[in-house]
Order: sequence, then structure tokens, then C-alpha cells
Amino acid sequence: MSEQLWTDVDNYYAELLIPRDEVLEAALRDSDAAGLPPIAVSPHQGKMLMVLAKSAGAKKILEIGTLGGYSAIWLARGLASGGRLITLEAVEKHAAVARANIARAGLADAVEVRLGRATDSLPALITEAPFDMIFIDADKPGYAEYLHWAVELSRPGTLIVADNVVRDGAVIDPASPDAAVQGIRRFNEALAKETRVAATVIQTVGSKSYDGFTLAVVI
Ligand code: SAH
Ligand code: DHB
Ligand code: MG
Repeated sequence: MSEQLWTDVDNYYAELLIPRDEVLEAALRDSDAAGLPPIAVSPHQGKMLMVLAKSAGAKKILEIGTLGGYSAIWLARGLASGGRLITLEAVEKHAAVARANIARAGLADAVEVRLGRATDSLPALITEAPFDMIFIDADKPGYAEYLHWAVELSRPGTLIVADNVVRDGAVIDPASPDAAVQGIRRFNEALAKETRVAATVIQTVGSKSYDGFTLAVVI
């Protein structure tokens, strides 16, 4: 089994299930042109976020880590009518690119990009809680704290999703020198101790290599 085959299968299913989409393609193109790193979720992963949001009936979604707004567009498309997405981003240029991409997608009224470090923005969100779905995808060393806040900002039934929890399998190495891996491992340990959620992990392969998502529901 090769990475090429994973990508070919991703493309096979994308051709069947994910129609070409000018707005999403433009979001990636403009992110790239502005020099943002190419680390948005893949089309299938984006659509998975939309499917999860829809099945949760989400009216309020929180995203931590906006980048150019690619995953935000997918999440916002999964909102129930009249729903709102708040997405947190620390880097001004990323937030600016995201706002333009979100506006072109016709989602400016549904989505608010909040500029600032997530640890600074999260406490103030208590007045807008509970969120129905929370997507964690910012700096990996922050994940354990983001989990803490995700639970604080939740209600029973809230779906918490975290990206990049497998990292080509590096996650299982306790001695990894990679700060991102250590951040994910601290997140995993906090998750294991968190009695207010039921969690599992789905490993993913495809055009974004080998990685995974944590899926946790607040109980
Ligand atoms: N969710 C996006 C990808 C996010 S990449 C998508 O799939 O389309 C991670 C983003 O988190 C980057 O834009 C980075 O600038 C941002 N980030 C990193 N540290 C952060 C912090 N402390 N607070 C808020 N955002 C942060
Ligand atoms: C990185 C971050 C991400 O959110 C991602 O999906 C892939 C890579 C990174 O920081 O390398
Ligand atoms: Mg990610």
C-alpha cells in the first residue's frame, strides 16, 4: 500500500462526491498566493466537517486555527440555518486572507474571524457558549489547553474534533523531539483523564498523507 494509492483513492471519491467548487478552490489559491502554508484540511476532511456539523444540527460552531478559512467555509456550510461560526486566528495576515475567502463564499454574515492568540480569546467566549461543535486545529502545543476550554464552552452532546493527532504515526513515540508530537501527547493524556467526554480517534490516509482526527462527544 502506497501513499500514491491513498491519493488516487481520495481523488476517485472526490470526483464522485465532491463537485468542483470555485469558491473553495479560490480560497486555496489565494491562501497560497499570500504565502500561507499549505496545511488546510483536505477536501474529504472538509466535507467530513460539514457532514458532522449537519448531523449535529450545529447552530454555533467554534474553530481554533483559521488559516485561510478553508475549513471554516466547510464548517459554515454545515451550520443549521441562522447558525454562526466563530473562528480564532493569531496571525493577522491569515485572518485577512480568511475574511476575504469567507466573504467570497457568501458567508461573511455567518462567520466571524477573531484575531488573537486562542488562549486570550477563549475565556471571553463563555458569554457565547455553549457551542454545538468545536474544531481544534491551531498550534499543537496548545491542544491540551484548547481541550480544557472546549469542554468549558460545551454542553452535553457537543462534538469536539481535533486535527493532526497521528502525524505519520509519530504520536506513539514518547521520546519524540517534535514539539507538535509532544503537544498532541499532552492533549491525549488530558483527554484520557477527562471524564466529561467520550472520545475515539479515526486514522486517515489520503492526499494529506497519514494523520488522524479525534472525535469526542461531551456526555
Ligand atoms: N483549520 C485550517 C488550518 C489551520 S492551520 C484549515 O484546515 O483550513 C493552524 C492555524 O492556527 C494557523 O493559521 C496558525 O496561524 C494558527 N495559530 C497558531 N497558533 C495559534 C494560537 N495560539 N492562537 C490562534 N491561532 C493560532
Ligand atoms: C500542520 C498543522 C496542521 O493543522 C495541519 O493540518 C498540518 C500541518 C503543521 O503545523 O505542520
Ligand atoms: Mg490541521
